[in-house]
Parts: sequence; C-alpha cells; structure tokens
Amino acid sequence: MDNSIKYNRKIVLFSSSVVMTCVLLIVVWVILYKNYGFSKKTQKFISKVEKLNGEIVHMDEVLTMSARMAVASGNVMWEKRYLDFEPKLEKSITEAIQLMPDEYKKLGASQTDAANIKLVEMERKAFGLVRRGEANAAHAILYSAEYKDQKQIYKDGIDKFVNLLNGQVETKTKRIEKRLYISLAFIFGVVVFLIICWLIVLRTINKWDKEIKILHEKELHSEKLASIGKLSATFAHEFNSPLQGVLYVLEMTVEKCANNKREEIDKEFVKMAVKECDRMAGLVRHLKDFHRPSTNVATLMDIHEVIEDVILLMNKRLQDRGVALKRKFEAGFPLINAVEDQIKQVMFNLIQNAEEAIPDEGGKITIITKRSDSNIKVSIKDTGGGIPDDKLPLIFEPFFTTKGAVKGTGLGLSVCHGIIKMHGGDISVDSNLGKGATFSFVLPVNS
Ligand SMILES: Nc1ncnc2c1ncn2[C@@H]1O[C@H](COP(=O)(O)OP(=O)(O)OP(=O)(O)O)[C@@H](O)[C@H]1O
Ligand SMILES: [Mg+2]
Repeated sequence: MDNSIKYNRKIVLFSSSVVMTCVLLIVVWVILYKNYGFSKKTQKFISKVEKLNGEIVHMDEVLTMSARMAVASGNVMWEKRYLDFEPKLEKSITEAIQLMPDEYKKLGASQTDAANIKLVEMERKAFGLVRRGEANAAHAILYSAEYKDQKQIYKDGIDKFVNLLNGQVETKTKRIEKRLYISLAFIFGVVVFLIICWLIVLRTINKWDKEIKILHEKELHSEKLASIGKLSATFAHEFNSPLQGVLYVLEMTVEKCANNKREEIDKEFVKMAVKECDRMAGLVRHLKDFHRPSTNVATLMDIHEVIEDVILLMNKRLQDRGVALKRKFEAGFPLINAVEDQIKQVMFNLIQNAEEAIPDEGGKITIITKRSDSNIKVSIKDTGGGIPDDKLPLIFEPFFTTKGAVKGTGLGLSVCHGIIKMHGGDISVDSNLGKGATFSFVLPVNS
C-alpha cells in the first residue's frame, strides 16, 4: 500500500466515523424531538377532551335541572339560567365533534340531534306555560313519557359520544406508547451500533498505529542506511591517508627490527600511528553506533556531546567541501531525557541538509544552542540557497526531495519531524531565499 495512504487512512476512518456518529445522533435527536412534539400535542388533546367531557355531562344536568326547577317552583329565574347554559352546551358539543374523526361524526348524531331538538321544544313550551302561570301543564310535559323517552335517547347519544371521545383518548395514548417503544428500540439499536462501530474503529486505528510505528522504524533505519551510504565515500577517503601512514610506520619498524636497528625506530612516528589508529577506531565505533537500529530507550544525555559525536563523523566531509563549522553553545546546559541515537540522527540529517545546500564555493554552518526554563533549542544555520516559499509547506512530507531520486530519499526531514514530535518537542524552519536556512528544534528539558 502507498505510504501516504497509510498515513492518511487513519484520519479518513476517524473523521468518517465522527461524521457517521454525528449524523446518527442528529437522527436520534430529530426522533426524540418529534416524539416530544407528538406526545405534547396528544396530551393537549387528552386534556381538552377530558374538559369537554366534564362540561357536556355537567351542563346537560344543569339544563334538565333548570327546566324541572322552573316547573316545580314556577320561578322564571330558572328559564334565564336555562337560556344561559344552553348555548354553552351547544358550543362544547360542537367543539367535541371537531375533535372526532370523520367516521365518528355521523355515528348516531342524527338521532341525538332529533331528540335534542324535541327536548328543547318541550322545555321551551314548559317555560312558556310557567310564564303564563300554568305550572301543572308544564310539569306534565317535563314528566311525560315522551320527555323521558327523548331524554333517554339524548342521554344514550351523549354517552355514546363521550365513550367515543374516551376511545379517541385511549387510541392516542396507545399510539404514544407505540411510538415511544419504537423510538426506544431504534435509539438502543443506534447506541449498540455506535458502540460496536467505535470498538472496531479504535481497534483498527490501534492496529494501523502499530503498522505505522513499524513503518516509521523501517523508514528511520533505511534513512540511516542511506546516510551511511553517503558517508562511506568520505570514510574511504578519510581512512586511506592515515592507513597509508600507519602502514609506512609499521613497515619501517619491521625493517629496523629485521636489521637489528631497533634504536633507530622513531618513537614519535609510532605514537602518531597509534593515535591515528585510535582515531580510526573511534570513527568505526561511531559509524557502528549510527548504523544500529534505534534502541528506542530514552536516557539522560548531554546534547552538546551528541552534537560533537555527529560533527566527528561529518567533519572531514565538511572540510572537503570548504564548509566552515561554527559552534555557539550556551553554557550550563541541562541533561535531557531522550533516545540518543535518534537525536544523533536528527543532528546528522540537519547538518547534512545544510552541507548539501551550500554551493561548491563553500560556506558556513553555525550550530547554536539555547535554553529556557522548560526546554532547550538547537538551531542549524547555513549559508546555502534557502528554501522557496512554495516548497516550505512540503519539506517535512515523507519522500519530498529536490535532490533527485539518486541523491535524496526525501525522508530526512520527515524522520526528524517524527523523532522530535515523539520526544514531545517541535521542529521548524526559517528560510531566507538566496541567503540560507535555519532549522531549529526544541526539546522539553524533562521529556
Ligand atoms: N538546509 C536546507 N536548505 C535548503 N533546502 C533544504 C534544506 N534542508 C532541506 N531542504 C529541502 O528540503 C527537502 C527535503 O529534505 P529531506 O532531508 O527530507 O530530504 P533530502 O535531503 O532531499 O533527501 P535525504 O535526506 O533522504 O538525502 C530537500 O530536498 C531540500 O529541497
Ligand atoms: Mg536530507
């Protein structure tokens, strides 16, 4: 798989999971909101039906009572009361009918209406008789068998009506419950689905993280090998002259010994040869250290010593290219907790880039160290060509190089970036096109 895809797929998976979670949460929220609206509307309907129910039953009783009291007492005040309540009852019944579904509206309505008309007629007739002082005739109407029959028909109609209203309430309540159960089942399903998805996503990301870590380690190592490849030519050159010298001293010594002229052996020459051997052994040791895969073990280290070790490896190459190296080290530096071989690799890459940026006429590299309370800062400043503005955002990307496939892998800075970030630090660049670039990294003192 392409490396950039490996780096990006984690972000794609994570962001699409977040988007999917947000979409599902919005759906859940819409369902809850709609259910809340529906149950609020239904509650309103139920309380209205209950209120109308009570009013209809109560006012019907009031009307019957008023008519009968008017007959019994002969007092016209009861007619007034009757006339007050009658339109109110009509209004409540009309309102209640509007709350019924269409098929209910017709059910038994004509019979009840006819009985109601007859009852009203009889009650008005009785009131007329009361007004004329014929209370007995009025009494006869209101207690007649026909009045009773019509009252019964009307009562049955009203009961049916009230039952239908109650039926409506029951249906709506059941509908709320059904909707609630369906919504709860859906929400439960969504939550379980999201939990499973996130477990899979986190496991996958974890797996990919491990893969990326392995990939990163491989990159780190192959980048080291590439650097060693670049160094080997310099090393061959660097080893050749002292080896010739040592060989010459040894041959001379052997010759003097063979001719029994040991006293003529130049001790200073032998000492110089030993010193050269020491230096070559040191170089080989450093190269071996550098070649080894990262220990990944953080230890307390002196950054200036690390820088000197790297300079030792690169000095010869810098001299050959006419690059002067200047140190501006701040005194009293604290030890830092870091993986030594990795910090060496960062220094190596940055100095190598600086050297490669310097033209053949030569130039200068300045290594500056500074400290603050919480971190240390190392800057590598060169007098090379600098970096164009449009390339600046790309240089820390893996495989970005302007040096051609043979000379550069384009991994140097991305490896530096990875190492410094892993140490809790930061790396940045300041470029002045045509005048040079300064790469700086900071590391926390207690990292
Ligand atoms: N000091 C510098 N001055 C100018 N350009 C630089 C400097 N350091 C890095 N660059 C630019 O950044 C690019 C990426 O650098 P990086 O070290 O990642 O890869 P590289 O040097 O091209 O290849 P490699 O390090 O694998 O040999 C370089 O090709 C170069 O264009
Ligand atoms: Mg490089």
